[in-house]
Amino acid sequence: MSVTKPTLLVSLATASLCLLMLTFALSGSTTAQSKSGKDLYKQNCRVCHEKGSASGEYSPMSLTQDQWKIFFKNKLVPAHKNASMPGMNQKLLEMLTPEQLKAIEKFAVDHAADSEQPQTCSGE
Ligand code: HEC
Repeated sequence: MSVTKPTLLVSLATASLCLLMLTFALSGSTTAQSKSGKDLYKQNCRVCHEKGSASGEYSPMSLTQDQWKIFFKNKLVPAHKNASMPGMNQKLLEMLTPEQLKAIEKFAVDHAADSEQPQTCSGE
């Protein structure tokens, strides 16, 4: 029995649909819903700002709440315009959604130097 063209098309369509769903499933695992601000900070900020890092060591308790707010409002974009994730061909600012940035900001502000629970990003 030979495979007719329509059948081939249908299986192709099914295959691409599967791929599409897989892509969604994979990218879904890194969205803001499933990641806390802390995880996002570890993943997206700590990579360049851990102890001894050339870009400066920053954890939530490096700055005060006001300083973080000002940073997210005015400084994040200009300071990171050219920041590419180490080992990845992707720019930091293109990787983060506005929701993820909000979550990171909340984590930083909630654990800033003058917050109730100052925290380094490695602290539990
Ligand atoms: C790819 C590396 C990289 C990543 C990822 C990164 N940074 Fe930076 N960051 C830098 C560099 C480089 C500078 C210094 C920029 C300059 O001096 O112009 C900087 C500067 C800063 C500063 C000081 C800015 C100032 O002007 O006072 C803070 C605070 C900061 N980053 C926080 C963060 C946060 C929060 C994240 C995560 C959302 C982050 N960084 C992600 C590389 C990175």
